[in-house]
Amino acid sequence: MNVIEAKNITYKYPDGTTALNNINFKVEKGDIVSLLGPNGAGKSTLFLHFNGIFTPTSGEIFINEKKLEQDKKSLLEARQTVGIVFQNPDDQLFAPTVEEDIAFGPLNLEKSLEETKKLVESSLKKVGMEGFEKKPPHHLSGGQKKRIAIAGILAMSPEIMILDEPTSGLDPKGASQILRLLYGLNKEGITIIISTHDVDLVPLYSKKINVMEHGAIVKKGSPKEVFGDINIIRSSNLRLPRITHLAEILDKEDAVKLGADSYPLTISQARRDILNKLD
Ligand SMILES: Nc1ncnc2c1ncn2[C@@H]1O[C@H](COP(=O)(O)OP(=O)(O)O)[C@@H](O)[C@H]1O
Ligand SMILES: [Mg+2]
Repeated sequence: MNVIEAKNITYKYPDGTTALNNINFKVEKGDIVSLLGPNGAGKSTLFLHFNGIFTPTSGEIFINEKKLEQDKKSLLEARQTVGIVFQNPDDQLFAPTVEEDIAFGPLNLEKSLEETKKLVESSLKKVGMEGFEKKPPHHLSGGQKKRIAIAGILAMSPEIMILDEPTSGLDPKGASQILRLLYGLNKEGITIIISTHDVDLVPLYSKKINVMEHGAIVKKGSPKEVFGDINIIRSSNLRLPRITHLAEILDKEDAVKLGADSYPLTISQARRDILNKLD
């Protein structure tokens, strides 16, 4: 089942910028899907359509195969089903303490105080931030803020989580912790959509990639299919994963014969493929 579908979405900002130009995008239940694109491609603009923050200039959004309407009840339902974690946690976190911030969503959904307390506890535990309840969010590091922003969304028990560049601005360990967390949430049944331009990380967690450039989706497929299309990757102002680039160089130098459609995308694939060829 498609939990999210965008059909022929076009979006113009009030100043006339066409940020999205006839986008078709689908996400199946249980997937981790990446939207890969350079700055300005339209990733954030597209995401803001998925729980009704933006209304398309033309086209339609479907959530769980039901058209998203703009009345209050439909929007409330959409915001409960689809949780968006913004790129900048400072746009999301606003309460004086971590626990009040996380409690805001459940209380807004009219959960009881007791139930909200439990949701705050379990969400903090999931993101590994127990003990931070009384801290002001602005005293936290970038990675910690991101985890609190994720906890705030988790507390509303969404079916679908959308994360806008969740690893940007994090140190390498922080980035892999966030990805491991998202991977775990996906295993628990949450469908995950991530925007990023981190081509090295994408093949580690995502089996389905959509490449976006200039407000359009220019390529869709598995990591092998997407990074196998080197021309599209480079013309979209992206690059190959470093390890794939190394394989390309070794292949062109005839050091290891791999073939462009079988370049490794991760270190473990490279180890396997290159060692095999050297044997
Ligand atoms: N508020 C705005 N008003 C006008 N143009 C905007 C606004 N926000 C973004 N844009 C433009 O829309 C395009 C897509 O932006 P955005 O969705 O932020 O891209 P991404 O998230 O992929 O970096 C860019 O050309 C950007 O300059
Ligand atoms: Mg963005």
